[in-house]
Amino acid sequence: MSIEAKALSRFYGSTRAVDGVSLSLSDDVQVLALIGPSGGGKSTFLRLLGGLEAPTSGSLCIDGENLSTDELLLREWRKKNGFLFQSFNLFPHLSARENIVLPLVEVHDWLRSDAEQRADEVIDRFGLSAHSKKQPGQLSGGQQQRIALARAIAHEPRWLLLDEPTSALDPEMKAEVLDLIQELCESGQKIVLSTHEMGFARGAADHVVFLAQGQKVEEGDAEALFAGAETGEVRNFLAKVMKW
Ligand SMILES: Nc1ncnc2c1ncn2[C@@H]1O[C@H](COP(=O)(O)OP(=O)(O)OP(=O)(O)O)[C@@H](O)[C@H]1O
Ligand SMILES: [Mg+2]
Repeated sequence: MSIEAKALSRFYGSTRAVDGVSLSLSDDVQVLALIGPSGGGKSTFLRLLGGLEAPTSGSLCIDGENLSTDELLLREWRKKNGFLFQSFNLFPHLSARENIVLPLVEVHDWLRSDAEQRADEVIDRFGLSAHSKKQPGQLSGGQQQRIALARAIAHEPRWLLLDEPTSALDPEMKAEVLDLIQELCESGQKIVLSTHEMGFARGAADHVVFLAQGQKVEEGDAEALFAGAETGEVRNFLAKVMKW
């Protein structure tokens, strides 16, 4: 994924959620992990990359294309991506299958018959066929998140943006969702994820950016950064969160 961010900022009133981040990533990076302390700006940075927010200032060029602040153009960029957030965001009154079909028809203008066929494909791929007709309330947290992940990839997104996809899950369910994300990484899907799962970030990501107080403190090759971060702040953070 090619990303050129120059002094990228997003402020909310007096809060500097992302504060002058510059980043240059070449196309060799397939999986990018955003890590760092709570409130550091990971979600906001992810939202900027996905076109869910427009920057307050600075510029962002993705795959050679300058991301516009025009709402219509942003919406077009947004549609090319797949998103998965911490909470499942499934429609509670629809079946698992219909949760996947509906956005394909309504947002991506697919024919219903094509959308249904695609929904069945991704449900099958993720081992969820037995749950296809159930509503989210009848599914476990892990199953709901797997449906949300199936929905996020159903339109074959250019990038998949995952914001702490497992933080609301207990350990066993975490593992089943991480396994699926790992499989997507191995299939070549371009992914940006914010995560507190350091072991997973280390194993799955090519490149890591550490954000704190809206600023980039350090970035680098995932294995190298986890093995020996340059800054004391990152080393201390990793020592603390990887202690257990
Ligand atoms: N929509 C918003 N309105 C106002 N402030 C916001 C908004 N979104 C984020 N912020 C603030 O911006 C800062 C960065 O938040 P962000 O959610 O990007 O951090 P984060 O690194 O994702 O944190 P966490 O690890 O807890 O998810 C925080 O101080 C947050 O309170
Ligand atoms: Mg966040």
